[in-house]
Amino acid sequence: MQTVQTINELKHIISLNKEKTIGFVPTMGYLHEGHLALLNKARVDNDLVVASIFVNPAQFGPNEDLDRYPRDIEKDTQLATDAGVDVLFIPSATEMYPFESGITITVGDLSTKLCGESRPGHFDGVLKVITKLFHLVQPTKAYFGQKDAQQLAIIETFVEAYNFPVQIVRVPTVREADGLAKSSRNVFLSEQERVEAMHLYKALQLATETWEKTSDLAAAIAKGKEHIDSNTSGKIDYLEALSYPALQPVTNETKEVLFATAVFFEKARLIDNILT
Ligand code: PAF
Repeated sequence: MQTVQTINELKHIISLNKEKTIGFVPTMGYLHEGHLALLNKARVDNDLVVASIFVNPAQFGPNEDLDRYPRDIEKDTQLATDAGVDVLFIPSATEMYPFESGITITVGDLSTKLCGESRPGHFDGVLKVITKLFHLVQPTKAYFGQKDAQQLAIIETFVEAYNFPVQIVRVPTVREADGLAKSSRNVFLSEQERVEAMHLYKALQLATETWEKTSDLAAAIAKGKEHIDSNTSGKIDYLEALSYPALQPVTNETKEVLFATAVFFEKARLIDNILT
């Protein structure tokens, strides 16, 4: 595996591999089994696998966890090597953002719901870095986890609307044995919170089941919220059901429904969802 830190080195490698299919997995590091599922899929599908590790300042708000976001480059490098990654791109913030262009990407309606409401500007920052990374890596396919369902919906829509020549591949959420979705932020949970955190998925399952049985969306949401309130010390940010990927109110015409939740624990805000 080649590890590169500069855009020039990355561009050089990409220029030498023009004839190959390139699978790309962008990450913020602190790799876990969720990332490994993306890397494994990319490895199976492509000639060359490129992964990036970049804790993107543009997608963190002023009071968010940019400074304490978990990092372990040595372990990540080993995991990426073991997963068969060919090129690992680990740029610095100044390498990625050497000057302030004053030109921004604004997501609009898709970012006004769910996580977008409590994380203003977050998805603009995601598209800022994704645009740069896609231009640099020029991937045939790029792999994203379904756990970040809103991010996935926004990236799929962006790529389609602006004709990026890349295929977005959705990879199912990887879970712990008790159902908790794998996340780099799980390390911030206390022992007690870690036990409680499995109830996010349980609550989403209850909500989905209730909706499937009764077609009563309000009752389904109430059931899910009640489960989180009575089984965790966390504070619900939201538990909602929306159409996917348009993130509009559910109607009889809706084909895919996203049940999604975000819950604040003491030092971590966890998200999870079920697509049905
Ligand atoms: O999902 C993430 O880890 C990040 O939002 C991404 C896609 C790597 C962009 O920084």
